[in-house]
Amino acid sequence: MATTSLDLDKSEISVTTKSPLESLLGKVDRREARVGVIGLGYVGLPLALGFADAGFTVTGFDIDRRRTEQANNGRSYIGDVNDQVLSDQIETGRFRATNDFVELPEMDTISICVPTPLRKTKDPDLSYIIQAVEAVADHLQIGQLIILESTTYPGTTEEIVLPALERSFLTVGEDFFLAFSPERVDPGNAGFQTRNIPKVVGGVTPGCTVAARALYAACVERVVEVSSARTAEMVKLLENTFRNVNIGLANEMALLCHKFSVDVWEVIEAASSKPFGFMPFYPGLGLGGHCIPIDPAYLTWKARANGFEPRLIEIAQQINSAMPSHVVDCVTRALNERGKPLRNSQVHILGVAYKRDVADVRESPALDIMHLLAERKARLSYTDPFVPRLSEPGLVLDSEPFSALSQKDCVVIITDHSGVDYKEILRVAPLIVDTRNALRGHTDEKIFRL
Ligand SMILES: NC(=O)c1ccc[n+]([C@@H]2O[C@H](COP(=O)([O-])OP(=O)(O)OC[C@H]3O[C@@H](n4cnc5c(N)ncnc54)[C@H](O)[C@@H]3O)[C@@H](O)[C@H]2O)c1
Repeated sequence: MATTSLDLDKSEISVTTKSPLESLLGKVDRREARVGVIGLGYVGLPLALGFADAGFTVTGFDIDRRRTEQANNGRSYIGDVNDQVLSDQIETGRFRATNDFVELPEMDTISICVPTPLRKTKDPDLSYIIQAVEAVADHLQIGQLIILESTTYPGTTEEIVLPALERSFLTVGEDFFLAFSPERVDPGNAGFQTRNIPKVVGGVTPGCTVAARALYAACVERVVEVSSARTAEMVKLLENTFRNVNIGLANEMALLCHKFSVDVWEVIEAASSKPFGFMPFYPGLGLGGHCIPIDPAYLTWKARANGFEPRLIEIAQQINSAMPSHVVDCVTRALNERGKPLRNSQVHILGVAYKRDVADVRESPALDIMHLLAERKARLSYTDPFVPRLSEPGLVLDSEPFSALSQKDCVVIITDHSGVDYKEILRVAPLIVDTRNALRGHTDEKIFRL
């Protein structure tokens, strides 16, 4: 803390000047910091409400006017966010959403939670991050803390975000603060939400880490500090690549077990009885969602840019992305057993969301499978209690009631939503390809497992 002595009217007055960091920490501690969140999607909206719940006044910024209007009307468009929780925070004045970015300079902290998809060429698409950072950089203020939360390759915070912010001629770690803190939200997981998922933070300077740590410590139970923003970026990619590679192994085991006429689900269940050194992963029909299938591509792209060929990660990606074809082969074989060709057969998909109990169909392998089945001239229909209408290029269908299943030639269980009566499905469906082991414990010759 610096102390300046001023000589005013010949009387000595001591004025205490706080550094930008001390000033920010004080505001966070007193919950007087104005908190901004850019991008109010699956990640940003729950995070914004988490800050509001911790006592901050939060402004959410989003370019999608429909989303901000819905949020301000207390109508949630994110499965994990309850309308009541949203309305309560709006009523107390702790949360408000806007499209108007002129308010950014009034924020003490800004968390950026915008999408990081892949381009058609499978290269990282950082355009959303760049657009959001430009909006911040235009009016960067002394004392502001900027935290990138979007999943991205190691180096993004220092190589892309920092140079844009430094155009302000302010100095990072002294005048403003910059950190990376990966978002680990797991949509549909009632046991782990923003508050009890530990938050990893890594600043561009030690002061940046201190600032980011203080902010998150106010609203999550545990903050894990790492030595740099780059390390924090890598942590997130390790987590998702770990899942990707292990699911790849489970898928390869499923293909192998198929050859040996062994039930892979039974193998995994029995292996899980080992109390140490084994963690179960399950085969599936490829990977869905916005994270597991995409994040490793960010890592492999950056690895190649640095002259490193990541072999294991690539092979896992190849195995996983071949699974939809394998499922289509299973459907073809199952129909064949019944003396039916795939062409013109009525194939019914049960569950099109990318995972259990969510309404999100982004990157869902169900879509790949449906496209492959359509190419082979199967007649398609689906049921998904979370997705009443599917409106994807080449696939516009309405979800049918469960009672329709008896009229289909084959039912393919793709997403095993809870709350579905699988016993009833087994009773009414004439033929079932179960890719999730939703019918575990049942043996019936009309069930074909992955
Ligand atoms: N969804 C998940 O389960 C999950 C989990 C962990 C990490 N992540 C990562 O978090 C990031 C965000 O993912 P998401 O699922 O919340 O995405 P999302 O698509 O649900 O939400 C992103 C929001 O950002 C808004 N947006 C885009 N550009 C903007 C801009 N320039 N300014 C303001 N708003 C803008 C969009 O309108 C949208 O509302 C991604 O990097 C993702 O990989 C997602």
